[in-house]
Amino acid sequence: MDKKEFAQRRKTLMNMMEPNTVAILPAAPMRLRNRDVEYAYRQDSDFYYMTGFPEPQAVAVLIPGRKHGEYVLFCRERDPDAEIWNGLRAGQEGAVERFGADDSFPIEDIDDILPGMLENKQRVFYTMGTHPDFDQRLIGWVNHLRKQARAGIHTPSEFVSLDHLLHDMRLIKSSQEVTMMRQAAVISAEAHRRAMQACRPGMKEYQIEAEIMHTFMKHGARSSAYGSIVGGGPNGCILHYTENTDTLRDGDLLLIDAGAEFEYYAADITRTFPVNGKFNPQQRSLYDITLEAQAAAIEQIRPGKHWNEPHEAAVEVITDGLVKLGLLKGTTRKAIKDETYRKFYMHRTGHWLGMDVHDVGDYKVGGEWRVFEPGMTLTVEPGIYIPAGMKGVAKKWWNIGIRIEDDILVTKKGCEVLTKDVPKQPDEIQALMSAVA
Ligand code: GLY
Ligand code: MN
Ligand code: MN
Repeated sequence: MDKKEFAQRRKTLMNMMEPNTVAILPAAPMRLRNRDVEYAYRQDSDFYYMTGFPEPQAVAVLIPGRKHGEYVLFCRERDPDAEIWNGLRAGQEGAVERFGADDSFPIEDIDDILPGMLENKQRVFYTMGTHPDFDQRLIGWVNHLRKQARAGIHTPSEFVSLDHLLHDMRLIKSSQEVTMMRQAAVISAEAHRRAMQACRPGMKEYQIEAEIMHTFMKHGARSSAYGSIVGGGPNGCILHYTENTDTLRDGDLLLIDAGAEFEYYAADITRTFPVNGKFNPQQRSLYDITLEAQAAAIEQIRPGKHWNEPHEAAVEVITDGLVKLGLLKGTTRKAIKDETYRKFYMHRTGHWLGMDVHDVGDYKVGGEWRVFEPGMTLTVEPGIYIPAGMKGVAKKWWNIGIRIEDDILVTKKGCEVLTKDVPKQPDEIQALMSAVA
């Protein structure tokens, strides 16, 4: 991502802010894992989207119209001793020269400097509740200003969440963002192919997870975008299964939901395939319904269609399929109306995808489903889940959990499947799995 794009984003946001306002974005806090060890640091997505600045202990302030510069970045000072232990810091000079700040101050001085930036401003754009410790500090600065009211200082009277402006920007991906998402998708697709080829009865779920992480890391995606789900048999019916400790059994399906994060952008892919390479008849019939549901949903994605249309299409195919197999009683229409299909398909067909796997952006605008526009990215992930013991369902159907998930870019004319490099047709899956037998 080049510096110009970050500068352009700040400009766009400041153009939407009225005069006499300030926006404040804190970096993500560091989190302790245990004594002396921190969790791998991941910058806050909103902060990174606006700054491209990867370090912790930083605060970005946007002040439209400020004479000494509209973009101020508070960050850590250079410190040769600390840098020997924990790595280089940009410092104030780097903040200006490399990261495009107009002005930069040491983070230690923020208590002295930031309240002055709020003085006599009408409105502060800040998202409360994401970083509670920082919320408290901001309240402290505002209270400090209030005490000076008799000296003629006016305290901002409105605090407005930044979400609406910022998240609407994040919802539509630029061509540079699409390049990153494409790369995340390509890496993740290769990881899923590797997993299919490696899978054998008797292996542990985490051994498959290791194959996936190997491919992510090898291509510079140093983290997954979310905890990988590698669930054999019954575990495929647990939607957010991440233990990944069971043994994979002959005759079971394996559901893998895993995606890489590349340069802050996520992929999110699910494939379901037989541990031994061959679907049994029950698995195959439910798989075919899920695949058809996914195709029907993707068919609904193009500019002008709205957010819920893919979901409606998937529900229709799944319900109809389950009725035809006798797993749902009555007519398809009634099963949809009464939502009896939800016993088998209890989640939605997708979500926005971007810097966060469940990305930002409203799904409804003014009470209406959002209409697709070019540059939006989303997942399409229908599924069917039949855990053991499901009432009214014969035993031969138990322990089948299937989900098929791809990442989609809305284009001018329709859409593009970014994750098409992983097979999902049963024949292709079987061919890939037996290729290295
Ligand atoms: N991997 C999380 C999801 O599919 O939504
Ligand atoms: Mn998903
Ligand atoms: Mn997923």
